[in-house]
Formats: sequence, structure tokens, C-alpha cells
Amino acid sequence: MLNTIQDRSRGIRGRAGRLGVLAAVPLLTLLSGCQQTRQSLSIGDFASAYNREIWWMSLWAIALSIIIFIGVSYALFYTVNKFREDKHDAAPAQFHGNNRLEVALVVVPVLIVFGLSVLAVKSLAVVNAVDAQAPKIDVLARQFWWNFSYPAATAAAGGTVTNGNEMIMPAKQGVTLTITSGDVIHGFWAPNIGGQRAAMPAVNKVWTVDSDRAGAYQGNCSQLCGASHANMRYKVVVLEQDRYASTVSAMQAYRAPEPAPGSAEARGYALFMQGKASTRAQACAACHRVQGTTAAGAAGPDLSFFGTRRTLGAGMWEAMTEERWEDEQAAEQLHAWLKHAPVVKPGALMPRYDGGDYMIQGKVQKGGTLTDTEIDDIAAYLRSLRLPEAADYWRDTPVQGAPTAGGSQ
Ligand code: CUA
Repeated sequence: MLNTIQDRSRGIRGRAGRLGVLAAVPLLTLLSGCQQTRQSLSIGDFASAYNREIWWMSLWAIALSIIIFIGVSYALFYTVNKFREDKHDAAPAQFHGNNRLEVALVVVPVLIVFGLSVLAVKSLAVVNAVDAQAPKIDVLARQFWWNFSYPAATAAAGGTVTNGNEMIMPAKQGVTLTITSGDVIHGFWAPNIGGQRAAMPAVNKVWTVDSDRAGAYQGNCSQLCGASHANMRYKVVVLEQDRYASTVSAMQAYRAPEPAPGSAEARGYALFMQGKASTRAQACAACHRVQGTTAAGAAGPDLSFFGTRRTLGAGMWEAMTEERWEDEQAAEQLHAWLKHAPVVKPGALMPRYDGGDYMIQGKVQKGGTLTDTEIDDIAAYLRSLRLPEAADYWRDTPVQGAPTAGGSQ
């Protein structure tokens, strides 16, 4: 017999070695993924209790699985080797009727499955916990943008403090989100503060998230929801608690500034509020709210703090620094956005102001017309809608996952 036991066991060892290498590749990938602090979508961000829980649960599950794998492999190779045909002439003994063995073969797997279930159920309880005492934020998803409102923060000018596409929250304490949708199903997903939650019409999902570290984090829509699903992004800005409190107070006290008569902002304000009937250009105020004015539209994102924001078109463009926000590229992007949003963002429900056609729910709409100067006037008005300097939540906020020097498209 050429095929000796030694030959075979060497073969087994070689194969086991290769298997080990194959198993290590995804594991290493997983570990290295957690060290990329600049990565925008990091599931390994230990600043959040959610992520820590998932991490430890996974580690326990993987460790248990490795132990089980080694145990089963050992039993298999031991048996195969011990009862090989060339060592025995007679048929092997049968264990039918061996009650102890049969019971063990049932009880051990049940215990294993039960152990893993306990781990999973415990983790589910932790990650789904709702802290009713925590500050609350109402999250509304729409095609294709987000509104974040603060139900406890009533504005002095009336209404509730709301910000479009940029959610601020305090550090080192839970925040209870109530997530819903105004149209189709979307997905709320900001991996640095936790997992995903579906945003569904007529359903309120309540969920507590947190982060120990101040900074700005990326959020995405994680549920295919239409043409601009990929252009439905947001930022989560985590502020130290006292700064968060003062920012929310400033938002409550905020009233949109009154433009100086004759200025570009004043002309923009007039167009914003009334549109331009002679060219059928609809008023922005019909769909957008601006705190401290009569603009109270709810069909589009709240624009009260537009000038403080650093993202445009629900994160389609970013200008993460003051300089970027003031530079020519940002101005061009805003101009293009106001002029023909459905052209630059497929499926956007904002009208075209270049006179072109666009579609809303399969119906062709005709946009009104505004001149480039009029569009720039509206842009000037929008940029004047800014919080006081001290309440600028972007100031000195480290941005995770976006180059601080660059806008992106
Ligand atoms: Cu909203 Cu995808």
C-alpha cells in the first residue's frame, strides 16, 4: 500500500494550513476596516454603544464557532484515522442503542444553539433599547432628502426647530430618534452612530443612538427609494453637550435676517416668497420653511439655517470648510441647483427655473423662468440665512470621511 497513514496526515495538515490562510483573509480585512479612522462609513466605530455591542457579540460568536470547528474537526479526523479500514478486518461496532451517546449528540448541539441565542438576544436588547428620557429628534425621510426636527425646541418665531439634511446631536449621551417617511421606504443609516433603521410611511420607529466623540459623520439612505437614492445623504454632527445646548438655544431664538432694502438678498427674498407670476416661476416659500418668515412650506427641506449648512442637495455636494463654502465652485453648484434641480439631481421634485420640462410622478411639468441674476439673488438670500457665529455647528468640528480641503460631487 503506497498510500500510508503518514502521507495522508501530511496531506491533511497541508490542506488545513491552506484553509487557515483562507479563513484569515476575511478576518484581517474586517480588522483593518476598523482601523481606518478616516473612512466615512465605519461599522467599527467604538464611539457608539451600538457598534461596541455588535463588535463584542460578533467576537464571542466567532470565538465559539472556532471552538466548535476545532472540536468537530478533531472528532472527525480522530474517528477517520482510528477506524480506518486497513486497521480493522471486522465491521465496526454500532452505537445504536447507546443511550448516553445519543443523548449527548442531542444535548450538546442544543446547548450550543442556546448559548448563541442568548448572546444574540442580549445584544438585540442592548441595540434596540429606547431611552425615553434622552433628547428627541424626529427624522423625516422624503424623496430625496431628510428633515431633522427637535420636538422639544420650540422656536421663538413659532414652529419647531428643524434642519434639513444635517442632524446635530449631543455627545456622550443617548439621543432618541423617531424615524418615519413621507413617501416611500427609505433607510436611515449613519454607521458611526449605529446600524440601520427603515424609514417607513405611517410607521414611527423609535431608536436610541449615541456617540462618545464630537465630530461630523456621514449618513446615507440605505434603502433603494428612487432615481436619486444615491443622492440622499446627510451629516450627523455630534457636539459636546454644552455646545449642543447653546446651539439649540440659538436655533430657537433665530429669526431669518431681514434683508437690507435694495440689496441682492432683498430681491432674492421677494422672489423666494412670491415667485415670478409673469414667467410662472413658483415661489420657494410654497415648499420650504424659513423660521421667522411666513415661508412655511413642508414639501421640501427646511431652509432656516441654509447659510450655516455645508452640504447642498442632500449631500450631493459638500463644502466642508468656510473657504470651500465661499469659493466659486460652491457658488456655481448652488446656482445650477436653483436653476434646474431635476437636471442635476434625477427625480428631484424641485421645479426647474430655466423654463425646461421635468417629470413629477410620470407627469411632465413645465418649469417657470428666472434669469441668472434672479437665481443669484435667491442664492444670496439663502446664504444670508445663517445662525450666529457662535452657533455655527461646523466650526472646529472634525469631519470624518471627507477631505476638509475639498468639496466633492
Ligand atoms: Cu431614500 Cu434611498
